[in-house]
Amino acid sequence: MQFAISEGLAQRFIYTDETGSTNTDLVAAASAGSAADWPDFSVMVTGNQTAGRGRSGRDWVAPAGSSLFVSVLLRPSDVGIDKLSWIPLLSGLAMASAVASFAESSDVRIKWPNDVLIGEQKIAGVLSELLPDLSGVVVGAGLNVYQTQAEQPVDNATSMAIQNAAPNSLDLILAKYLQSLRKHYESFVLAKGDAVASGLQAAVTRNCSTIGREVRVMLPGGEDLFGKAIEIDATGRIVIENSAGEKVAVAAGDIVHLRHNIA
Ligand code: BTN
Repeated sequence: MQFAISEGLAQRFIYTDETGSTNTDLVAAASAGSAADWPDFSVMVTGNQTAGRGRSGRDWVAPAGSSLFVSVLLRPSDVGIDKLSWIPLLSGLAMASAVASFAESSDVRIKWPNDVLIGEQKIAGVLSELLPDLSGVVVGAGLNVYQTQAEQPVDNATSMAIQNAAPNSLDLILAKYLQSLRKHYESFVLAKGDAVASGLQAAVTRNCSTIGREVRVMLPGGEDLFGKAIEIDATGRIVIENSAGEKVAVAAGDIVHLRHNIA
């Protein structure tokens, strides 16, 4: 596969025809090598992932050549570790913008924290992992590009092909993603990780279809939280207001959008 445009947008660019997981590979490589070997904005891409990983311990499965599987290593300097929770949201925003540039008439939005949806159907997901020595974050994204509906692992998933928005090559959509990721990332780093000052919080909020919706949040401990999603706070948490009017800020969880209609 050719990635002539995308290669020029990365600090280091590695393409393999097949691997287990680009996230696993990039975390391992960056942990074993030096920061000079694996600089900020190192990118790994593969044509086929045999052990792709999703959020909450799920698998990420797609037929060979049907999808974009990409991981980017980010080493934001002068950004405190408490701000790194914004990185996956930043990636979701960049992917939503890349998808929207091909599917302009469609309703491309983010489901908090970083799923990309067209309407209510998922087209992309993000898995972000901190390096064990805390010196960087690997942010991995999977985008459904050429799959048919029959090739989707679940019913509420879609692809760019299904949306009549397939790019002529994976290089084109990857380049859009990397350009958007770099733009938002540079503003974020320039603001020393202040997502409010950099405009990241506002941009994610504007593009997030979860805000204003009645939701179920499946918390990591197995409990459910029900309520209305009212905002994304300054640390990237989603704030849920329950029926008693209490507000709970959630840092991690899987969201289900319940009703379309909001009061
Ligand atoms: C999710 O929505 O559950 C996140 C999916 C993330 C998948 C990508 S594909 C590239 C990278 N390598 C992985 O093993 N996972 C991420």
